Amino acid sequence: MMAFVHQTVLKDEAVAALAPGAGKVIVDGTLGGGGHSEALLRRGARVIGIDRDPAALAAARARLVAHGERFEARVGNFGDVERLLAGEAVDGLLLDLGVSSPQLDTAARGFSFQQDGPLDMRMGADGETAAELIRRLPESELADLVYRLGDEPFSRPIARELKRAQPATTAEAAEAVGRAVPRAKWPRRIHVATRTFQALRMAVNGELEALAAALSALPRVLKPGGRAAIISFHSLEDRLVKERFRELEGRCTCPPGLPVCGCGQRGSFRPLSRKAVTAGEPELESNPRARSAHLRAVEKVP
Ligand SMILES: C[S@@+](CC[C@H](N)C(=O)[O-])C[C@H]1O[C@@H](n2cnc3c(N)ncnc32)[C@H](O)[C@@H]1O
Repeated sequence: MMAFVHQTVLKDEAVAALAPGAGKVIVDGTLGGGGHSEALLRRGARVIGIDRDPAALAAARARLVAHGERFEARVGNFGDVERLLAGEAVDGLLLDLGVSSPQLDTAARGFSFQQDGPLDMRMGADGETAAELIRRLPESELADLVYRLGDEPFSRPIARELKRAQPATTAEAAEAVGRAVPRAKWPRRIHVATRTFQALRMAVNGELEALAAALSALPRVLKPGGRAAIISFHSLEDRLVKERFRELEGRCTCPPGLPVCGCGQRGSFRPLSRKAVTAGEPELESNPRARSAHLRAVEKVP
């Protein structure tokens, strides 16, 4: 089996936001290689790790076995976090969104245009593959999806070419995208298929839907004083997190300068930082993936 190596993003910042310690129970909803979980366990917390990918769970279990009963791994979708916790309220929830490096780098998982493999892209074992999604969706819906989730200006010709080609492998899909985009318009810094592959991956795995479900469960999942920290890599995800956190925080409508709030419009959460936290230079130098990472955190008012 290939070694499971994933460079953890914004580790210190996420751990600081969650304020772990002895007696605290923290859910790592995107266990992956267990990098964040390990740091939380080292600070004395009990960690419940969730991942929909059985390969990630196996790797994290092996890495974290030394922490004994303080670490527990559960297979599932973090969108179902409330059900996975069976009503237990916790002190922290961490989400480090997206895919892990081993998922991207394993050709057979079908995420990569760099290495040929079946056009799969599922993080877990269930649901529709990317090849099946392309076959099922009408061309206009496929184009909308590539435009919305991939921010791809050539979404319409790409959807037309994908429907025509019915790709079964990642190489066939990447070639179809390449044919659809005029050569002079190919992006310089990224592969011509990057945006389309991102959109297909997000759709196959229902990534925005899972995030929305986890965000709406926050008030019930966290104890008073509990914290949520979410690292996103996509502007749509970051917007969803920002908007939901704002909603939870509520908005005071008192005139500025009033010594105490009199409107009572305050929510039951408070932000832990005004702006999203991003990676510093040393991390960016060693991990280019950190470039688009945005960490936002909130606390449920004790
Ligand atoms: C970026 S990696 C996490 C890496 C981890 N924080 C570390 O430092 O090793 C994201 C992980 O979350 C998992 N994942 C993504 N969406 C998920 C979802 N909706 N439910 C459960 N797991 C999910 C992926 O399978 C992947 O293993």
